[in-house]
Amino acid sequence: MSTATAQKVLSDRIDRIEVSATMAITAEALKMKAAGIDLADFGAGEPHFATPRHIKDAAIAAIEANFTRYTAVAGIPEVRKAIVERHASDFGTNYTVEESVFATGGKLALFNAIQVLVDHGDEVILPVPYWVSFKDIIQYAGGMVVYVESDEAENFRITAKMIEDAITPRTKAIILNTPSNPSGAVVSPEDLEAIVRLAHAKGIYVLLDECYVYLNFTGKIVSGGSFTECKEHVVVLGSLSKTYAMTGWRAGFALGPKQIIGAMSKLQSQSTSNAASMVQRASIAALTSSQECVSEMRADYITLRDRILEGFKSIPGLTCTVPEGAFYVYPNVSAFVGRGRIRSTSDLAAKLLSEAHVVTVPGEAFGTDEHIRLSYAVSADVIDKGVARLREFLLKLD
Ligand SMILES: Cc1ncc(COP(=O)(O)O)c(C=O)c1O
Repeated sequence: MSTATAQKVLSDRIDRIEVSATMAITAEALKMKAAGIDLADFGAGEPHFATPRHIKDAAIAAIEANFTRYTAVAGIPEVRKAIVERHASDFGTNYTVEESVFATGGKLALFNAIQVLVDHGDEVILPVPYWVSFKDIIQYAGGMVVYVESDEAENFRITAKMIEDAITPRTKAIILNTPSNPSGAVVSPEDLEAIVRLAHAKGIYVLLDECYVYLNFTGKIVSGGSFTECKEHVVVLGSLSKTYAMTGWRAGFALGPKQIIGAMSKLQSQSTSNAASMVQRASIAALTSSQECVSEMRADYITLRDRILEGFKSIPGLTCTVPEGAFYVYPNVSAFVGRGRIRSTSDLAAKLLSEAHVVTVPGEAFGTDEHIRLSYAVSADVIDKGVARLREFLLKLD
């Protein structure tokens, strides 16, 4: 064997992670679409709405004003101020500008937070089902994922007791994503407070993924950041992607203790540097203007959720919890596994795509093997068409 072939090319760290399952499915669906196939696409987790006019106008104005140069790594002071003021006004938090960092998407903020907090062998508690990227980002940092299973019969509820039982002397952090991608489950305000207080008492960090915080349908929109006495152990990870239909803009942020935010900015200074300058200006417009667009979109998501759940009722064997937030449904499809040629939910999702032209994501990507995830951030027509195809495909299995 030559030296060249014996040489290891890739680092151990890159071998610890997988390509994001949702991204892989999106890529396959895009290929089929490009080939002219009409898909009912419930795959990608992104709003079907256009970014609101006033946000687009702010970016256009920034470009026209030549606001197109490097900015401070952590974001211009105005965008950081807009972040902390929005959060303070909506959730009663008291973060300072120095306790905030603007990043190229919420995912990067999360990635950086985990990189600066988690060392090799540290344990990070992750409720199941979980958003695909948490596991890989923790593993990339060398951390050990400690899964906390939730019960579907309890609406995937996460309690302080469940978290407490998973804590060991090696626990460094707890990830909470509420409302949840993929289940739409919301951690109740009482459970949220108990978990934050528990973590604070034990000196463990709570990483609060608030990507869907405004897409909470319970009428009680809360942030785990509101328990300000515990802020020393809380890092809020926010995103403008879903709240303002801005997924492609890559706009996210973190709020947390100065030391952690400073370390995240340092890491950012050696990788992406600042998020795009015009995106920062657009984000200021999003955060400081009327929030009516957010309530309008939320109301539409509730209608779409109800429509897809109603459609599911016409499919015997398929059961589904009622999501209280985000824009996903997570039906249990275990009744169909083992029927026809379906060996697993991954297999089901693959055949739904290739044969029924319905895009879903298998539950395996989220840590459960009895579900598929559908994003209902699509038009009512897509829901009707997709549910009809799903019904036809599933009922034909014998
Ligand atoms: C739970 C969760 N967190 C974070 C993100 C990342 O959002 P973004 O990087 O677009 O801000 C997503 C996107 O799908 C998500 O579902």
